[in-house]
Amino acid sequence: MRPMTLWGRIFATLYEPALRVSERNGLSDLRAGLLAGARGRTLELGAGTGLNLGHYPAAVSELVLTEPEPPMAAKLEAGVRARGLPARVVRSGAEELPFADASFDTVVATLVFCTVTDLGRSLDEVGRVLAPGGQLLYLEHVRHPDPARARRQERLTPIQRRVACGCHLDRATPAAIAQAGFELRDERHEHFPKAPGVLQPLAIGRATR
Ligand SMILES: C[S@@+](CC[C@H](N)C(=O)[O-])C[C@H]1O[C@@H](n2cnc3c(N)ncnc32)[C@H](O)[C@@H]1O
Repeated sequence: MRPMTLWGRIFATLYEPALRVSERNGLSDLRAGLLAGARGRTLELGAGTGLNLGHYPAAVSELVLTEPEPPMAAKLEAGVRARGLPARVVRSGAEELPFADASFDTVVATLVFCTVTDLGRSLDEVGRVLAPGGQLLYLEHVRHPDPARARRQERLTPIQRRVACGCHLDRATPAAIAQAGFELRDERHEHFPKAPGVLQPLAIGRATR
């Protein structure tokens, strides 16, 4: 288990207030639209404070939420209890998922592939735990398609990583998902509502193998 750091505690406390304006101006609706497609045994990676909890449809038969940061996991557990959800919280990172092969029908990743330490390994783990016919649902802020803006994201990423607990601004996440052997389906490009330009490009979609 990861140690509880002071900045980790502060980040977990500030996370929802920092996102509130974006959530109210469309981010929450984008989450709802994505999660409407979740079904069966469902695993969420890096679930944070639980901003997706209210969006899971009845078609989800089992919900497992992973979160490696202790302060986030504590908030997540409290949110699950407060909602009376039959969901299980597991304190683990995406790079080493403590689940059997082919044990989930849906894996969800929202604003998390920007932060995982090893994106390729995390995607391999997603492929391993997904059952045949399973799906990865993702909503991620990504590298800007414009090279000049992508360079700006690269320049600011070291600062972002420090203040936002490891978050990279410049990850070409959809390309990495495709490189890990998934087929990208229904990908849409949106803007992160009310966010700074470097965080704006959002990729939302479903990927299968
Ligand atoms: C920007 S927050 C997103 C939280 C949530 N998914 C959401 O949509 O609001 C990134 C989350 O990824 C978690 N995280 C950090 N390293 C991770 C890793 N290696 N594997 C999985 N999650 C990780 C962080 O603790 C944090 O909760």
